[in-house]
Amino acid sequence: MNEQPSAPYLDALVAHGFRGSGRFHVPGHKGGPGADPALRYALGDRALALDLPQDIEGIDIGPKPTPYERAEHLAAEAYGAERTWFLTNGATQGNHALALALAPLGAKVVAQRNSHASLVDGLVLSGGMPSFVAPAYDHDLGMANGVQPDALREALERTPDARAAFIVSPTYYGMCADVAGCAEVAHAAGVPLVVDQAWGPHFGFHPDLPAGALSEGADAVLTSTHKIVGSLTQSAMLHVAPGGRIDTGRLARAVRIVRSTSQSALLFASLDAARRQLAVHGEALLHETLRAVAAARVKLASVPGIKVVGEELVGTPGVANWDPLRIVLDVRGTGNTGYEVADALRHAYDVQIELATQATMVLLVGLAESAVALERVGGDVEETVKRITKPGSTLAVLAPPASLEQQMAVAPRDAFLGEADLVAVDDAVGRISCESIAGYPPGIPALLPGERITAATIAYLRDIVTAGARLHGASDPTFRTINVLSEG
Ligand SMILES: Cc1ncc(COP(=O)(O)O)c(C=O)c1O
Repeated sequence: MNEQPSAPYLDALVAHGFRGSGRFHVPGHKGGPGADPALRYALGDRALALDLPQDIEGIDIGPKPTPYERAEHLAAEAYGAERTWFLTNGATQGNHALALALAPLGAKVVAQRNSHASLVDGLVLSGGMPSFVAPAYDHDLGMANGVQPDALREALERTPDARAAFIVSPTYYGMCADVAGCAEVAHAAGVPLVVDQAWGPHFGFHPDLPAGALSEGADAVLTSTHKIVGSLTQSAMLHVAPGGRIDTGRLARAVRIVRSTSQSALLFASLDAARRQLAVHGEALLHETLRAVAAARVKLASVPGIKVVGEELVGTPGVANWDPLRIVLDVRGTGNTGYEVADALRHAYDVQIELATQATMVLLVGLAESAVALERVGGDVEETVKRITKPGSTLAVLAPPASLEQQMAVAPRDAFLGEADLVAVDDAVGRISCESIAGYPPGIPALLPGERITAATIAYLRDIVTAGARLHGASDPTFRTINVLSEG
């Protein structure tokens, strides 16, 4: 029987939350009465009544399968997984758990060099040692694409004792790697392929969208449900494929130690509900959304100075497919940077976008986006660009020379937790970084903990700070000093 139209966790929570039970347990607001009046007004007593702890009979303990277990099982079924975990600390928690399970102390793994920071943080926790594989790079737009199977093969040959391979697909810009090709390469090398599909929780739920990474041969996949599908911020899922390449018992232990003992029932309920909506109505909702996005794309493409980036990149290095829900605009023809257009759009029309870089703006579209909002943003961009266009064309900011090719000198854990010296950046050349520093734009980590610092990286980071870029992760945002591993 098809049980996807049910939402057992949400239903159990609702059934318990409003029945007037004596609440002599956490949380201290007791379902509302103990909360600040302004919070009660803002969230409403219904949300507070459902803010229940774990271990309530009939929700997550009691006769098996409990509603909680059934909810995770339905999510696994919807995504074609053998096992799915609900995560309450985002896909971040999933990367931490995967690193702990697959890259334990001293173990080697191959990882995409510009993986999300949470993977490198996971390796700091676990003590694993990454050997990096560079993604393909679009020099025109200053944008990293996916890892190519040949590059993955080469990295795995270089690291014969690797225990797993980690790649990211899709990218922030919605560009998808050849996951099937990467899975084939990883499996030929005898290792599982982990795909960080944080930006693709909707993949596989409409014929015009890319397939989900699990169906393309990945062994573990992260989906940041909250990013595109309708669950609450911080909720995500970790899926493991059937086939046994991942030890689910070991991963379950790892998931457990990187979560709170008081996980939010509201987040779980939102995941259960989002899975139901996606599995039951996702195709219809996506159908409408895709139609509205296509119309918005046509409108945006007609704006002088704006180029809509997307499908035409499919087939270029590292782009096997693309996500039509992401609207990527190349704004260089307006003579402005993406920051400038985004600022002007915000000031004039109170439109907030997902990401701006020197050359681009990225508008994120959700599963059930309003067609009216999409139509309006086309007009808002048109009017804004008309007003601020200047002669000339903006240059894309490129990644630091060779940063995508960098390799670790010591394990991230040793560098992050080791004794550090704070030194002037000019004295840091040749030393090992304890810091993770990414310049925005282009958002590619220029330095990771454990990498040896080169003069070119210092020069690049100094240049982009002077040009007004922000440095994520740097202990000194002005980039005069940096923590390096003590040699004493
Ligand atoms: C590729 C990738 N993986 C993981 C994450 C972390 O996701 P979350 O914010 O759900 O923890 C992000 C966040 O932007 C991401 O871009």
